Amino acid sequence: MNYRSVRGMHDILPDEITHWQRVEQRIHEIAALFNYHEIRLPLIEHTELFSRGIGEETDVVNKEMYTFPDRRGRSLTLRPELTASVIRSYLEHGLHNTDPFQKLYYIGPMFRYEKPQRGRSRQFHQYGIEAIGSLAPELDVEVIHLAWALMDSFGIRGLSLRINSIGCAKDRRRYQDALHDHFSSRIKEMCPDCQRRYNDNPLRILDCKNPHCQPHIAAAPASTDLLCHDCANHFKRVCQCLDELGLPYEIDPRLVRGLDYYTRTVFELISTDLGAQDALLGGGRYDGLVEQFGGPPTPGVGLAGGMERLIFVLRQRNRGPQDKQRLDLFLATIGEEGLRLAIQLMKELRVHGVSVDTDYRGRSLSKQIGYADQLAARYLLVLGPDEVSAKTGKIKRMDSGEELPVAINPTGLTSIINRR
Ligand code: HAM
Repeated sequence: MNYRSVRGMHDILPDEITHWQRVEQRIHEIAALFNYHEIRLPLIEHTELFSRGIGEETDVVNKEMYTFPDRRGRSLTLRPELTASVIRSYLEHGLHNTDPFQKLYYIGPMFRYEKPQRGRSRQFHQYGIEAIGSLAPELDVEVIHLAWALMDSFGIRGLSLRINSIGCAKDRRRYQDALHDHFSSRIKEMCPDCQRRYNDNPLRILDCKNPHCQPHIAAAPASTDLLCHDCANHFKRVCQCLDELGLPYEIDPRLVRGLDYYTRTVFELISTDLGAQDALLGGGRYDGLVEQFGGPPTPGVGLAGGMERLIFVLRQRNRGPQDKQRLDLFLATIGEEGLRLAIQLMKELRVHGVSVDTDYRGRSLSKQIGYADQLAARYLLVLGPDEVSAKTGKIKRMDSGEELPVAINPTGLTSIINRR
């Protein structure tokens, strides 16, 4: 029996959890500022949702999905991302009938069978937003703005936003033909993955990370040179609007992103603290996805970012919330009567919003005081025979060591604890 977690799947232990809680809290706050509403979806979906939505030729579908048959032999998959699931839910619950324009966000675990390394795990967590139902280029910019607002709220610097447009479905076909022509004389020198993609979907060659293939990729035509009039105008307006809002970006004409549903705008936010291949977040438009899933023609745009990568950058820069979970008061007890009084007081104090704990291991007073220190309790109160009979005692401020006389009842204790 192997009592270790599955490779690439990590426990998040109590000493890291405040980072996660604060980052999640911030995401909820920023999403609310931009009027996005939370959606929570299953971890498991029918495999076709992802293979059709994300694309058979993508690395995610081809190599990275956790797919298994259920007891009746139906193929199910642990979600590798959430855009496809959000669109499934949007259609399944007729959200488009109530209001075709929806601004949604999510936070949760995703699963990809990737080689575990820094910034890459097999169970990881994403936060993401999806704005469905408008073609406005200003909405692409709102999505990007939200990403910047989140990073700014943490004071993260050293970021660069790369942006590109891969155009509509017709432009993409034109671009694929241009890539086919470009790679025709080079493909023999490229890796087996690129050779397979050359026939099936040459756009995916641009996702290749093999150093040997990079010179051929760098010389490939730019998608922006092949955009139709409407897509070129859309991209122009996106860039103009980013300029107007003072949001910095670089156009990267080779950026296509590894998922097939993208149309028009695609972008990634890169941090100097992560490896060059690891984006802090990525997103783009997917104007054909709703229709592809059997819904009415409905455009969409969104992004997702890795929680682990964001928390890593925050820790690198010491920007993350450092504080431990708050404990207002520790009750150190002597004897049975002391513990009995502690139990009663804790019941009442917790109703008043005071976080309080005591010793359940019958330890010596000095051990209990050491434990209160370890928990970073703000106050300590000893409940021994004298305190039990007099119902008064001395409460100690743990940071300064100052001791204050106190009446041992909820009112007396809260009046001191709530004094800042
Ligand atoms: P993605 O680029 O595949 O896009 O993933 C988004 C982010 O998830 C990445 O930038 C990265 O931060 C994080 N991530 C991906 N894989 C891993 C991994 N194995 N370990 C740790 N972090 C990882 C999407 O998933 C799209 N659904 C984004 C989107 C939403 N586009 C439109 N709407």
